[in-house]
Amino acid sequence: MVTLAQIGRIRSSVLLPSLPGVSSRIRSAIADPTKTTLNVGAIVDEDPSLAARVVGFANSPHYGVREPVTSIEQACGILGSNTIYDLSLQAELMGFYDGLDPKTLGDAKTMWVHAIATGRICTILGSRFLTHLNLAQDQHDGLYTVGLIHDLGMFSMFGAFRAAYVELTQLLEHDAPILQMREQQMFGFSHTEVGAVIGHILGLPGDLVDAIENHHLPAVRIRNQPLTLIVSLADTVVSAALSGTTVREELLLVPRYLGLKEGTTIELVELAREEIRELAA
Ligand SMILES: [Fe+2]
Ligand SMILES: [Fe+2]
Repeated sequence: MVTLAQIGRIRSSVLLPSLPGVSSRIRSAIADPTKTTLNVGAIVDEDPSLAARVVGFANSPHYGVREPVTSIEQACGILGSNTIYDLSLQAELMGFYDGLDPKTLGDAKTMWVHAIATGRICTILGSRFLTHLNLAQDQHDGLYTVGLIHDLGMFSMFGAFRAAYVELTQLLEHDAPILQMREQQMFGFSHTEVGAVIGHILGLPGDLVDAIENHHLPAVRIRNQPLTLIVSLADTVVSAALSGTTVREELLLVPRYLGLKEGTTIELVELAREEIRELAA
């Protein structure tokens, strides 16, 4: 639960968004029964870079369109409102880091690989391993996004503290509880707290903010938050794959809480290794 005091404390050190953005308006339009995909399209129309992204996405081979899609209206009809929401959210969150010149990201590249691989593993979990959860299509679609943004706070802390933060994460990124403790000691807050505050200000759905805030909590404390459990598992296997360490199945309750069979974690670490190899290629 994000508090005003927390926002004030973090804002004094880290750049935070000032207002909810376009994704929040799109989400409100989706939730409003009087609004249609056309209304969602009208919001997209007001943001040229998002409009280009939406049209580009509708033309991707995944959607198999015969004639090129050229209008927002067509693109929205093909993609559907929930996919548009995910695209707007991703664009907004990535746009938030425009101040970080990609050429100078250098040392933070591992953070991006970790973020993208976690998004991909969340998607694989949803489509291949968690079919028994009967996730709705929009929940499936949102899994990549939540995996991608789960360490949002890390990018902000990198923006604010640069070398000191990179050094800390390189030393401790595979030991999340210790990393969080050191973040608290050095900066007065942790990346999960910063990420939750940004998510709250941007008006992200509550279960996404919970997943950002709680993905490093012990499994027993998040057993009733399926989205957080999924992110926590994906984060753990991607970290293991990146560091070359193994996840000891008997220490991991998350797969059990998600109703996954024994051995799933090992299989997921292998899949994460493949994703990372692909991203590095
Ligand atoms: Fe994290
Ligand atoms: Fe992570």
